[in-house]
Amino acid sequence: EKGGFETFMLKEIHEQADAVADTIADRTVRPDGVDLPELDDELLRGATRLIIVACGTSYHAGLIGRYALEEWARIPVEMDVASEYRYRNPVVGPGDIVIGITQSGETLDTLAAMRLARERGATVIAVTNIMGSQATRDAHSTVYTRAGLEIGVAATKTFVAQVAVMYLLALRMAELRGTLTPERRTELVTRLKRIPHDIGVMLDKGSETIDRVAERHFEKEFFLYLGRHVGLPVSLEGALKLKEISYIATDAYAAGEMKHGPIALLDQDTPVVVVATDSPVLEKVISNIQEVKVRGAHVIAVATEGTDLGDNAEDTLRVPPTDWMLQPLLAVIPLQLLAYRIARLRGLNVDQPRNLAKTVTVE
Ligand code: M6R
Repeated sequence: EKGGFETFMLKEIHEQADAVADTIADRTVRPDGVDLPELDDELLRGATRLIIVACGTSYHAGLIGRYALEEWARIPVEMDVASEYRYRNPVVGPGDIVIGITQSGETLDTLAAMRLARERGATVIAVTNIMGSQATRDAHSTVYTRAGLEIGVAATKTFVAQVAVMYLLALRMAELRGTLTPERRTELVTRLKRIPHDIGVMLDKGSETIDRVAERHFEKEFFLYLGRHVGLPVSLEGALKLKEISYIATDAYAAGEMKHGPIALLDQDTPVVVVATDSPVLEKVISNIQEVKVRGAHVIAVATEGTDLGDNAEDTLRVPPTDWMLQPLLAVIPLQLLAYRIARLRGLNVDQPRNLAKTVTVE
């Protein structure tokens, strides 16, 4: 049942090309646009604000969605972890679309946040991987991710499928609201359709550098993760993967915040993972890498093939080029694999980490 892989998690990491391909398939048939027949066009055209609620890895997918929705559809987006949103007496009502992202469709806090918003008059959309789950019953409409069943407690293929759905939604809204030119939409749809291929190539290449980094650092007690813009949620997700399966303390920060505190954590021994894929903020990220390096810490960069980061990073995990907004779908993969290798070197059960449940149906 593990299809020749040593664990479910590794199998599921390798199913990510299919997870994205299946999720976008019939929704990206038109060259210059996306179809999401499950959602009402008038609703998407008329919305004044989007609010995304989710927990854990699904929250990170939502964060990436927020950048895409703002950048492409030019709509204000609010974002909160469901357990905070539901208890903060949120200002929400008619005109708002609330999107609950939950792979299981059964996470109690996310369901409660969605119900609260619905009671107050918002339109609620569920993004879930499980047909007929509670989230689909609590929402007005549902957009399914099509990742297939995920057994490992650590979310991997469901994450990339969620991110793909958020891109689809952002592109659909951009088309309906006229905020992207047909040329730009065509470019993005083309790039998105290429992502499964890119993921496949990356996974087939093997992971020598990742193995080397894991060997060097698996006994460390702390890892810092940094990123900017869409690289930030990737950092958050990489840090969550490492802590949940290897039990190593991690912190993930917006790179620009480093000087406001976390830089004090750095010493000669600290591994610092920096998401430094191509983007308009790459120069800023490179400055952050330099700041880390002068403190003697070890920089492990995730960078686009062909981009020169100078000789500042000790190790560089390469990802194929794509549109910079879509980079998270590729950049997260080396970070999943790094967490995986480290946890295995520590002799841990990655499929069922201690204290964690696949579905959290209690507060
Ligand atoms: O089923 P959900 O997407 O609602 O689950 C949310 C979180 O519990 C989940 O993403 C959790 O953080 C994962 N174990 C992360 O790998």
